[in-house]
Formats: sequence, structure tokens, C-alpha cells
Amino acid sequence: MFHTTASIIRGVSAFAKQTTKRAVHTTFYAMAPVKVGDKLPAVDLFEDSPANKVNVCELTNGKKVVLFAVPGAFTPGCSKTHLPGYVQNADKLKSEGVSEIVCVSVNDPYVMAAWGAQHNTKGKVRMLADPSGNFIKALDLGTNLPPLGGFRSKRFSMVINDSTVEELNVEPDGTGLSCSLADKLKLKK
Ligand code: BEZ
Repeated sequence: MFHTTASIIRGVSAFAKQTTKRAVHTTFYAMAPVKVGDKLPAVDLFEDSPANKVNVCELTNGKKVVLFAVPGAFTPGCSKTHLPGYVQNADKLKSEGVSEIVCVSVNDPYVMAAWGAQHNTKGKVRMLADPSGNFIKALDLGTNLPPLGGFRSKRFSMVINDSTVEELNVEPDGTGLSCSLADKLKLKK
């Protein structure tokens, strides 16, 4: 094919415009970690399938909700200790005024559903996926875990009252199993 200098310049210019268009589609995320007193972002999570959106603000409006986040479904610490602790304490937490207990991970909704089925979470803990990490990025509670594929959530627990953070327990090293365990929740009366 024969190209004139003008057609080459037009081509480069069109490419530059496309590149510029892609570059402006930037999502802005929180620059400081969420803290007690902050309102949660109105981000969608997914339950069981990508078709089933659960908006975090709608989920927590007018209710007390315990949310805990894990670095990864099916990982040893999350499967042997973190999730089972919330399943075992679910009835007690609900008798203390908690309407919902929610587990979040940067995984896809099918993985979260399969992990929940393995741990009999039905009716006790809702397994919500944050596949693109938008919720965790908005909270600025993410961490880079190359062995798990890259961006994941730090391990934390949170008590939410009417969409506002009332208690927050982030593991100091990001992945340990201490302050974020179910039996460590303080649950303000
Ligand atoms: C865990 O077992 O919980 C775990 C494994 C790898 C990275 C982070 C957490």
C-alpha cells in the first residue's frame, strides 16, 4: 500500500486521539484508608453471579452490618480460621443486633459462592465478590499479593451502622489473623 506523508500524519494523529480517549477513562479512588465515621461508598458487589448486584449502601442503609474482608477465597488462613469464626459466631452476633454478616474478597462471584457452599454459610454469612476490587480500592484497604495474582484486600473487619463505619479492625501486617477475627469484635451497644 502507498502512503503519502500526509496520510501517515493523519494515521498517527488518529492513533494519538484514540490513546488520549483511553487515557481519560481513569477511575479515581480514595487516597487515604477509610476510618471510623466515614460513610461507605455506593459500590456494587456481586452475590452468586455477575447478574446479581448488591449495592453496599443499599445493603447497609438503616441496619447494623458486620463486614469482613479476606485476601482470598479458599486460602488456608481464610478457610481454616477467618470465615469459620464468623459462621460459628453468626447466631450470637445476630442476637446482639447485627442484621447481616458479609464476607468480601477480590474474587469472582462464582468462586465466592463455591467457597460459601463448602463452609455452609447460607443464612449466616453472605459471600460477596468484589471482582475488580472497586470496593476495596474505594476504601483504600488493598494490598499487592503476587502469590494470589496481585491486587487483593487486606484482612479486616468492620461494623457498619446505617452505611457509616462504626468500628474498624485492619490487620497490622495486612494478612494476619488477630484483630479482625469474629471473637475480637467489640460491637458498640
Ligand atoms: C491465607 O492463607 O490466608 C493467605 C495466603 C496467602 C496470602 C494471604 C493470605
